[in-house]
Amino acid sequence: MHTDSGPTTPAAGIPTQIVIFGASGDLAARKLIPAIADNARFAAFRGPVQVIGVARTPMNSQQWRDELARSLTPAQAQVWPDLAPNLHYVPIGDSSLADYARLHETLDDLAGPLAGDVGRLFYLALKPSLFVPTVEALAAEGMLACDSLRLEGWRRVVVEKPFGTDLATAQWLNIVLRRHLREDQIYRIDHYLGKETVQNILAFRFENSIFEPIWSRQHIESVEINVCESLGMEAGRGAYYDTAGALRDMMANHMMQLMCLVAMEPPASLDAEAVRDEKVKVLRALEPFRDAHDVWTNSVRAQYARSPGETEAGYLQEQGVPLQSQTETFVAIRARVHNWRWAGVPFLLRTGKRLGKRFSSIVIRFRAPPADLFSGPAASQMARLRPNELVFRIQPEEGIRIGFQVKQPGPGHVMRTAALGFDYKDLFDGETPPPYQRLLLDAMHGNATLFIRGDEAEAAWKFADSIRSGWSAPGAPTPWTYEIGSMGPTQANALWHPHEGGWSQE
Ligand code: NDP
Ligand code: BG6
Repeated sequence: MHTDSGPTTPAAGIPTQIVIFGASGDLAARKLIPAIADNARFAAFRGPVQVIGVARTPMNSQQWRDELARSLTPAQAQVWPDLAPNLHYVPIGDSSLADYARLHETLDDLAGPLAGDVGRLFYLALKPSLFVPTVEALAAEGMLACDSLRLEGWRRVVVEKPFGTDLATAQWLNIVLRRHLREDQIYRIDHYLGKETVQNILAFRFENSIFEPIWSRQHIESVEINVCESLGMEAGRGAYYDTAGALRDMMANHMMQLMCLVAMEPPASLDAEAVRDEKVKVLRALEPFRDAHDVWTNSVRAQYARSPGETEAGYLQEQGVPLQSQTETFVAIRARVHNWRWAGVPFLLRTGKRLGKRFSSIVIRFRAPPADLFSGPAASQMARLRPNELVFRIQPEEGIRIGFQVKQPGPGHVMRTAALGFDYKDLFDGETPPPYQRLLLDAMHGNATLFIRGDEAEAAWKFADSIRSGWSAPGAPTPWTYEIGSMGPTQANALWHPHEGGWSQE
């Protein structure tokens, strides 16, 4: 594998071991191993890397490598002959302590005489109910202990989202993690934070001085956050998804994080604690819903349904989904951040599966000018002034656009929306790196800025739980339905009232 000798390298030649629990799963094959291959391709690792896959499926290392090779792009496949020999598979059996002792021995054997110095990243690509038992077993086998004063021999744990299923389970997970690890050893991953376009929100806000003076309730009418997906329950995800739903799967993590980046105060530095201190303040400032009725007025949940005459499966026909399921595949929420900067500004959040268009974006709508000169009686053709918009286009289009009004040539005052834009693909060569590539490196280098701290996870769950309890209160409306290929239920439009605007299409 490629190496370099950057100034922060603890000691050249000492390997890092990435231990992936859930090695036979989808995440490992589709995201983690390709990210490792890309990091190898770009010589991004600071030393040799060994990857140890752990799961129950009986197979040997060669079978695992062969399986993984299928997910690689042609570019990644080029480094595979060098990379593959560093991949090893360890079947975990029934996850007994003896299995963990065997795993420990294998890791030490692979490290050889440097066993005391290798850094170990335990990546839990598992379902949430397995996080606690896995951490307990690793701790019981003495695999998490390390000396915080040494650069070498570090131990870190990456936990995948969702971090529990509600506030109580998130708190329990945090208790167990903190029982065995310091917070600086814990990396709760939210891959949205690794997207270049998402990182650019902070860069845009805090590296440009022109927007900060107008970044508040005085000038901003609304903030809209969309993560719209055209995919549904691919790869047999129905059974898992039905235990989660859009609120837990997307809202409590990716969407809340995007909201934090828009709403947070400038941090004193990009240090992990400084950034996370500011993000958690936003989550804590979320105004609680007064009662169940307040939840019903400020949220809309829905399921995609088979359209009349169509054969495509609606949510209830998906494999693994119970026929009576009320799990939401779409959720829209009007949230309120109750602090000096944002009081009164609605944060409109929308996410859903099987929608007509796949896009993620953040739309900041600025207030309309106080005097509407162009729509008075003097105007021969009235044009209602639309507020200015700043759009962060997160995916699949990647860029930033500012919309403003211009007068259309000709008599009268007909206004048109024009745009100034920046497009990643025009300004930068090549594709933006996928999030796991960056986040894996950050975890290996001990940089937790783009990871979620325990108190953030809990604050996000507290908000999500308050919505869920409103949905399960007596008299709560059942989920609406929406057609596959639509942009969700029309009932979601009511969340805009009485503010300017409506759900955006980009
Ligand atoms: P999969 O169901 O595809 O894989 C789960 C893995 O867990 C398998 O390797 C399975 O292997 C292993 N496993 C199951 N039970 C046990 C057990 N008792 N002990 C040890 N290993 C076990 O899930 P994904 O890979 O899709 O997701 C994993 C995690 O990543 C989840 O938390 C998910 O929410 C999160 N995530 C996934 C994303 C994705 O794109 N897939 C994106 C973002 C987050 P075996 O049966 O061989 O033991
Ligand atoms: C995952 C969710 O965290 O994010 C999936 O579990 C969702 O349901 C995915 O499809 C979306 O990620 P991306 O990067 O494709 O927008």
